[in-house]
Amino acid sequence: MKSKGGSRPTVRPGTRRWAATLLAVAALTAACGTGRAADPAASRSAPAAEAVRAPAAGSGSQAWHAVRAGGESGMPPGMSSGPALSVRAAGQSAGCRRAKCIALTFDDGPGRYTGTLLRHLADHRAHATFFVVGRNVAADPGPVRQAVEAGHEIGNHSWSHRNLTTLSGAEIRSDLARTDRAVKAAAGVTPKLVRPPYGAFNETVRRQTTRPVVLWSVDTEDWRYRDSAAVARKAVKSASPGGIILFHDIHPTTVKAIPKVLESLSARGYKFVTVSELYGGKAPKLVYGGSPRPAVAL
Ligand code: NI
Repeated sequence: MKSKGGSRPTVRPGTRRWAATLLAVAALTAACGTGRAADPAASRSAPAAEAVRAPAAGSGSQAWHAVRAGGESGMPPGMSSGPALSVRAAGQSAGCRRAKCIALTFDDGPGRYTGTLLRHLADHRAHATFFVVGRNVAADPGPVRQAVEAGHEIGNHSWSHRNLTTLSGAEIRSDLARTDRAVKAAAGVTPKLVRPPYGAFNETVRRQTTRPVVLWSVDTEDWRYRDSAAVARKAVKSASPGGIILFHDIHPTTVKAIPKVLESLSARGYKFVTVSELYGGKAPKLVYGGSPRPAVAL
């Protein structure tokens, strides 16, 4: 079934290009496609909630991107479209205010195709961010180590891709910590970013970490469209400066699409950076919370 809501950002007109980004995440849909965590019955979609329009902050010079729904994966059973949530980046790095930066992100790995993806990225001198699943890292630490050595960033995508909103605070902390330990053991680094499975988070999840929760501005829905040309087309068409594009490197069709994505966006002048690089070489200060106002800085 085709995605209902679509995930194309709408940008408030008259705003400065390199300003902060708001991702208003309304509903969470669809299936993760990991084959591990996703429940087939979970692909029933929830009604798409309205995208949040956050007020322009400060001088009004920010460019806001309101994103309608678009799950990074399957709607967990029993999960309904929650309150609209918004994410705002505090600001981009100096380099990315001058250059045309974009962050490619790859979830749910590492997997058997991650090594190939790393070669594609190296061929184009591109950096990316991998939101890894802890148990996959423990099972095969090599790709994470190689990714870090190549200058990529590693984010925490939970231990086993459970919907964190169904867990207690203690369970969430334990889950994230277990994943951190696996990444540390594999590559000697601790993730500075968290991306909750399915993009699903609530106040309980948010309180369990001081790290930024990083969602995305473009969902390629690559778990749904197992078609390299379609995935590449969607990524290229939806790209915008300062954007964060969601892929899953567990799908061979996605990895096969990446050279085309890199070539096309390079030709348009994009520089491929990690999420932290996008926001200044440090953990990005994302702001997130419900409408109507950009909420709490973490
Ligand atoms: Ni995921």
